[in-house]
Amino acid sequence: MAKVKTSFFCQNCGAQSPKWVGKCNSCGEWNSFVEEIVERESTGIASFLTGTGNQPKLLHEVSSENTERIDTCNQELNRVLGGGLVPGSMVLIGGEPGIGKSTLVLQLALDLKSRKILYVSGEESIQQIKIRAQRLQKENQNCYFLSETSLEHILAQSKQVVPELLIIDSIQTVSTESIESSPGSVGQIRECTNGILKYAKENNVPVILIGHITKEGSLAGPKVLEHIVDTVLQFEGENQYMYRILRAIKNRFGSTSELGIFEMGNSGLREVSNPSELLINRAHEGLSGTAIAAAIEGIRPLLIEIQALVSTAAYGTPQRSSTGFDLRRLNMLLAVLEKRAGFKLATKDVFLNIAGGIKVDDPAIDLTVITAILSSNFDLPIRKNVCFAGEIGLSGEIRSVNRLEQRIAEAEKLGFDSIFVPKAGKGINLQKFKIEILQFDRVDEFFRNRITPDLFFNTLVIGTVAGINFKQISFVNKHRNHNFSPCFKCGWFKSIRTCCISFLSGHGRSYH
Ligand code: TYD
Ligand code: MG
Repeated sequence: MAKVKTSFFCQNCGAQSPKWVGKCNSCGEWNSFVEEIVERESTGIASFLTGTGNQPKLLHEVSSENTERIDTCNQELNRVLGGGLVPGSMVLIGGEPGIGKSTLVLQLALDLKSRKILYVSGEESIQQIKIRAQRLQKENQNCYFLSETSLEHILAQSKQVVPELLIIDSIQTVSTESIESSPGSVGQIRECTNGILKYAKENNVPVILIGHITKEGSLAGPKVLEHIVDTVLQFEGENQYMYRILRAIKNRFGSTSELGIFEMGNSGLREVSNPSELLINRAHEGLSGTAIAAAIEGIRPLLIEIQALVSTAAYGTPQRSSTGFDLRRLNMLLAVLEKRAGFKLATKDVFLNIAGGIKVDDPAIDLTVITAILSSNFDLPIRKNVCFAGEIGLSGEIRSVNRLEQRIAEAEKLGFDSIFVPKAGKGINLQKFKIEILQFDRVDEFFRNRITPDLFFNTLVIGTVAGINFKQISFVNKHRNHNFSPCFKCGWFKSIRTCCISFLSGHGRSYH
């Protein structure tokens, strides 16, 4: 008699155990193991021996006629998918509730007019989908909608409709009768995804699944799902901001470093093909504490605006706060400024913000962060049309960054005059750029020698006071008109205000 084989699965992380356990060994969740059927019948070794399965082939024997990708009519989505949807592939789009997953796929379904599409929603009724479609102001005569949660019905309808693209929103709502557990459980998700995968591969139909993410931020019904599908895309962004980023986490048919950027508006998601122009607000020019970074997100150059506010701490322990940037890294950069470049920021509150609500992991924005901090600290605006790229090391060195040429090219394209970068390694040709490229090795050198004339100030005058040559820097902008001198022992100054006062009072020099 056929034997039913069961096993116990953690409903939180998908871990498997032959016996019931109270606490999951891998995720630590209590009482999360549920018995599920793994195999209904033993297949027996005989069926393997008959040789009815697939035969091994040489690569040149494999036809490649069906590998032409489907253009999704959405350049950002195409880019993240690696050039379009591959027939027969399974794409999982994950993201927090309300981020715009349903909007994205509905837009895709309504835009792709040349293909027959079946859009299955287990979350929304057909009426709700219609309201959303009206909001998007789009229509497609070739797109069928189905509100259904049973896998068997979905597959039966798919066999009838014969779609060229199947969309399922969301996989957590789909359930199959062959398993006892409730919809959304690990067993159900695995069974349903496997059922859909079988359908996709047999009929060479691409499938887009939508997946929820758990409170920890990983896809619900976790690794099991990610292993089965070909491509995992994560849709992310801050709810209160309009930018949404679509990122490839796994892609069997393309690079995982690609990135798609969208803007959520009143009538759906708009592709943002030139994000830098949106992320930089030129109206802030002339205000202190703002600096522009030439960053790379994925493999895409992106100019972003970093704002800092440095003020005297009202309480004993100064506050350090950052939005969109790692707080520990901010603390590290402040320590480097203090120890390696001699800026005393220990008693100052420092607030940092990356404009536009985006999060950046690129370490090359370090140089911009410290420039913005110093600009705010001294209340000196940074010169117009300057941007930065450079990672800061613990000993105060400015380290080289990846894709330097791409960053410079993006800055040049957007009309910047100068870019501050680390010393370029061999094999990087900087001659071809028209933009002024200023290269540095160390943080202290950067601020001491170059930042003063090149960055903050409009004019540089060499003067003599009391027989001693020193650099007098005349700084004029619409707010103030100051003269001051740096310390002539080292060329740097502790505080510009102190220097101003010492110079204006006729002292002619400043001290450390
Ligand atoms: P939705 O696509 O339903 O998110 P998910 O499927 O990821 O849960 O989320 C849409 C959110 O976006 C919702 O809060 C309303 C908003 N929205 C717009 O701002 N403009 C629009 O045109 C649409 C359709 C939605
Ligand atoms: Mg939804």
